[in-house]
Amino acid sequence: MGNALTNSEKSKGTVMLYRKWGSEKDEVVNYTSSIDSDKEIMEEVKLTMKAHIISLYLSGYIKKETTKKILAALNEFKEISQGYEDVHEALEDFLLKNVGEEAGWIGLGRSRNDHVATALRLKLRNKLIELLTEINSLRKTLLDKAKEHITTIFPSYTHLQLAQPTTFAHYLTYIEEELASRWEIIFFTLKLVNRSPLGSGAIVGTNVKIDREKEAELLGFDDIVYNTLSATSSRADIITTISELTVLMVVLSRIAEDLIFFSSNKLLKLPDSHVSTSSLMPQKRNPVTMEILRAKVSESIGILTSLLSIYKGLPTGYNLDLQEMNKYYWLAVNYTISSIRVLESLFSQIQINKVNIDESSLATDDAELLSINKKVPYRSAYFEIAKKVREGSYKSTLKIEDSINMKAVIGSPNFDLITNLIKSRKTKLEEDEKEIEVYKLKIISKVGELQVIENGIEE
Ligand code: ARG
Repeated sequence: MGNALTNSEKSKGTVMLYRKWGSEKDEVVNYTSSIDSDKEIMEEVKLTMKAHIISLYLSGYIKKETTKKILAALNEFKEISQGYEDVHEALEDFLLKNVGEEAGWIGLGRSRNDHVATALRLKLRNKLIELLTEINSLRKTLLDKAKEHITTIFPSYTHLQLAQPTTFAHYLTYIEEELASRWEIIFFTLKLVNRSPLGSGAIVGTNVKIDREKEAELLGFDDIVYNTLSATSSRADIITTISELTVLMVVLSRIAEDLIFFSSNKLLKLPDSHVSTSSLMPQKRNPVTMEILRAKVSESIGILTSLLSIYKGLPTGYNLDLQEMNKYYWLAVNYTISSIRVLESLFSQIQINKVNIDESSLATDDAELLSINKKVPYRSAYFEIAKKVREGSYKSTLKIEDSINMKAVIGSPNFDLITNLIKSRKTKLEEDEKEIEVYKLKIISKVGELQVIENGIEE
């Protein structure tokens, strides 16, 4: 048969399956190869291939004996050597070498375009589940810490100038709420990502009768990406995800900036494992993890910019430019996961110093009280207090604790109100923890069915 490998080709090591020129030493081959970034998706490419092979078997295209041999070889594929265009070529070559010409059946109804799109979604899905679980652990740590700090007085700032007294619990529950919103939107992007492009061929589908819905089911996808143009050449769901991760990172960056400022002003003590000292100045406690986090957020913005820039001019249908986006996905997700973990470690060990808050921060409370108690318009009360502050004669009638407990609106640091808020946030968090766990188990059980079919073939 035309495509059978000659013995000399078999012994040559790397074989160019899809083109007839070049070698692994060729700079042009290496320039266009995705082997390095494909290492990230090797397992997902194998799983995609497994679903494809089983699907061809179930539709009666490949005999049981052949299927068995191909699957056994597939499970042995552990390493991608250099010189191939990509993991797909390396895998096909490996199967041909280990099974022989019969392995060529895998090319039926399959393109690298639908396979890479599937593998990317599988990998991103797993990473997002990991990230969502990590966000929840951070949320839990923040709420637990908040419970310990309901009465811990802490300053608040606008324009980075002292504003009004608050509590550390108030600050922590702010971060938790920010994270909860990001969690929700990232979970939504997970559902967009978890749809199967498999069986779409190179662009318009295939003449081979592939049950796309069955394949999707076996890979634990929620649904399929219907239109085959979209399935093979769109990366919009992935970019949406990365853009939401970038928003999360920007939120984290502001927290890192706060922590650097708070520690610089001795409002709190960062854990020893999060600071490093100076080689010259022995007293220094430099907030290094937060500095690195801040820098990684800048990189993340760069990653999103790269993705958008590569993507925006591409005509519909697969273009090799898409390949150059792949490496950025994992970089962005890994930065996000590690940043969440670092913050979790920091907040679980953080210590708050006893702080003296300047009395002037109570001026607003005094002005509000004056207006309410004396029934004068707020602006008149404001001017009366402002005059005293300017003249240096302002003395508050209040204690800091009173200021906090007088706050009457939900979401303020009032000790009782925030105690209740922490309780309801905990309940919301528990619901979210359950939701992601159920989602994960559903995937595991569906992929388990694929394994059951494989075992049946291997018997
Ligand atoms: N390696 C490519 C990628 O990662 C997939 C191959 C598609 N190549 C092609 N010539 N159609 O996106």
